[in-house]
Amino acid sequence: MTNLVPGTKFVIKEKIMINIGILVSGSGTNLQAIIEAIEAGKIDGKICIVISDNPDAYAIKRAKKHNIETQYINYKEFNNREEYDKRIVSLLKGKDCGLVVLAGYMKLLSPYFINIYKNKIMNIHPALLPAFPGLHVQKKAIDHGVKITGCTVHFVDEGLDSGPIILQKAVEVKEDDSEETLAKRILKEEHKIYPRAIQLFAQGRLTINGRKVFIKERQN
Ligand code: GRF
Repeated sequence: MTNLVPGTKFVIKEKIMINIGILVSGSGTNLQAIIEAIEAGKIDGKICIVISDNPDAYAIKRAKKHNIETQYINYKEFNNREEYDKRIVSLLKGKDCGLVVLAGYMKLLSPYFINIYKNKIMNIHPALLPAFPGLHVQKKAIDHGVKITGCTVHFVDEGLDSGPIILQKAVEVKEDDSEETLAKRILKEEHKIYPRAIQLFAQGRLTINGRKVFIKERQN
């Protein structure tokens, strides 16, 4: 059993905080939920940088509105995925990042990146893993005829949406659901469980054994 101790920490008003680096590609509603949770004091941490592979990601605008440092990195300027990831890792290290959060980030991470931040990279997926990994999973859930789907926060390993599961929330699939209506209801739950999972990590309440993640009771 390994205790997942957040990497680098700092102290504000006697509270131990972590630096969180967030990777985005798109609209950034999860980023927004995390920003709001931090501003409401619900996460013991701060966002040290938001990195995007897409110069037009609305997530960048959201971060800027909250005076969070942002960085766009153009994939085309690098020879391969590892070179690209080395640039990201060096930015994150320069910010003393203790947790990497993928919030709608559309690139697969290289083994290099994953090894450096082993059990320190989280992702959110809009289905109840291990059902429906990959893309367009709300449509896949509807087409398959499942009655329940949901969302999953998990640590990132080298597989596709396959890492140890931290939190999940179920969402009912309604008979008249379209991909959009279902995605919207799932997203609402994503915005609740992602900040919660980050806070559990920040508080040092997650332990891992094999691929099982355990949540320790809060100590007061
Ligand atoms: C979410 O559905 C998330 O589960 C998936 O990508 C989408 C990102 O949405 N990984 P947003 O950019 O946070 O709005």
